[in-house]
Amino acid sequence: MTTSDNIHPDFQGILQRSEKEKLLNQRAKVLWMTGLSGSGKTTLAQGLEKMMHQEGYLTQILDGDNIRAGINNNLGFSDEDRMENIRRISEISKLFVDCGIIAINCFVSPTIAIREQAKSIIGSADFIEIYVNTPIEICEERDVKGLYAKARKGEIQDFTGVNAPFEAPTNADFEINAYGVTIDESARSLFNYVQPLVKV
Ligand code: ADX
Repeated sequence: MTTSDNIHPDFQGILQRSEKEKLLNQRAKVLWMTGLSGSGKTTLAQGLEKMMHQEGYLTQILDGDNIRAGINNNLGFSDEDRMENIRRISEISKLFVDCGIIAINCFVSPTIAIREQAKSIIGSADFIEIYVNTPIEICEERDVKGLYAKARKGEIQDFTGVNAPFEAPTNADFEINAYGVTIDESARSLFNYVQPLVKV
């Protein structure tokens, strides 16, 4: 087994983040969207990414369902697995930021402790918490993936908002209501918030 005694990280020899940000003409951040399943995180991220792309920003969306289909396909939804899910994603996000890229993250990340972990790995200066505040009644009514219905029937354990907790952020950097307005409108208001943070 590998022990940390035999690991010798070298972060000095690699080109600095500032050089890459200069190349891309942007400041890298992690735009961390938290909210219930079906709250609109992914749709919003996709709208935001298109706008940012048009304005010349290089972004990368990291999304729960996609990441869980690949690098995190050995993780479930216990507290421990969610913690590990977010730990790995935070480390990956840090790599993007070190490369000068703006990461747009869409993860339920349901507890304060989980989001604190992400913030401490990424660093508070680069971690922008965005709360996609869609009431559970609306997420459940939409039920795009049919998961709420399954959870109510007891076919899914530990489903966030039904039989597992969601602790709403109390101090998010930005809060967005992705309902009652068009996707374009919410993406635009998010873009208006984000642009000054990433603009050189
Ligand atoms: S997190 O809690 O660890 O941050 P993540 O964002 O990666 O979750 O994955 C959430 C997605 O997985 C949801 O959008 C939903 O499609 C799916 N999912 C499947 N089972 C569950 C569950 N028990 N709780 C929440 N989401 C689930």
